[in-house]
Amino acid sequence: MYPTTRLRRMRMTPQLRSLVRETTLSPSDFIAPLFVVHGTGIREEISTMPGQYRLSVDELVKECTELYRLGVLSVMLFGIPEHKDETGSEAYSDHGIVQQGIRALKAALPELIVIADICMCEYTDHGHCGILHEHYTVDNDATLPYLCRQALSFARAGVDMVAPSDMMDGRIAAMREALDREGYEQLPIMSYAAKFSSAFYGPFRDAADSAPAFGDRRSYQMDPANIREAMREIESDIAEGADIVMVKPAMPYLDVIRWACDRYDLPLAAYQVSGEYAMIQAAGMNGWIDRERIMMESLLSIKRAGADLILTYFAREAAALLREAKY
Ligand code: PBG
Repeated sequence: MYPTTRLRRMRMTPQLRSLVRETTLSPSDFIAPLFVVHGTGIREEISTMPGQYRLSVDELVKECTELYRLGVLSVMLFGIPEHKDETGSEAYSDHGIVQQGIRALKAALPELIVIADICMCEYTDHGHCGILHEHYTVDNDATLPYLCRQALSFARAGVDMVAPSDMMDGRIAAMREALDREGYEQLPIMSYAAKFSSAFYGPFRDAADSAPAFGDRRSYQMDPANIREAMREIESDIAEGADIVMVKPAMPYLDVIRWACDRYDLPLAAYQVSGEYAMIQAAGMNGWIDRERIMMESLLSIKRAGADLILTYFAREAAALLREAKY
């Protein structure tokens, strides 16, 4: 008790603070999400996500070379197809844009961990994450074979991990079985296990041109009000064979990250999504906040809540600051 106990003693110098720091960030904690487009020499800034770009395959290789040099060991690829159709056929074409990106990256940077997002919404003309039923609902079981085809096509291209984000029931089991059957039993699955139906995905949908043409995603993504249900989602994905589970978004769902960290013993990822990024960028560009410090504090808070890995659009910038020992 005060005055014997004085918590300020251990805060007096940067060295003491460093000595007793409970949480630290490292560049290898980050997974950088990247958008790949057809063409060459393309580095087109995304208007809703200043500082983020749609990259052609050659530019993607350059970006990843820099990320790897900074100590970011893994990237997550999202594809922007040339054309979209009812069943999202470019998603599972061996000539698809993500497949091209995977092949180029594995040739240029064999040690980089290339993860690919599995979902239909970037590839379907209606923008939903699966195959539509007659009554304009997403047909869960009809979607599973398409997700498996996409995973297998990425596997053939040489991907290091697949990450299903569609939120169909039973997809992890279906994908695990399909991968094992084709000889990819060593390919890990990172499941977007607790993915909430969130307005924080808005800027991403502009970036990937994947906003649903009608309705919304509430019949498959989770209700933001439910934390116990999130645990059931995670539990079922673990039972189906997920190697890593994810909570998404991150900062508005730190309680979900903490619960998941306390309950489950497999690696936990959290996705700091486009809306979280856009808010920090916008306020920073207006001079309303200290953007750099808020960026690092937001990442630290996600790690402290219990995430082992953070998918973040700040990966490159944060890794550079950590390497300069600025944080
Ligand atoms: C695809 C997918 C989305 C995001 C990641 N994978 C969009 C969505 O579900 O609408 C969002 C990522 C972000 O906002 O940064 N289903």
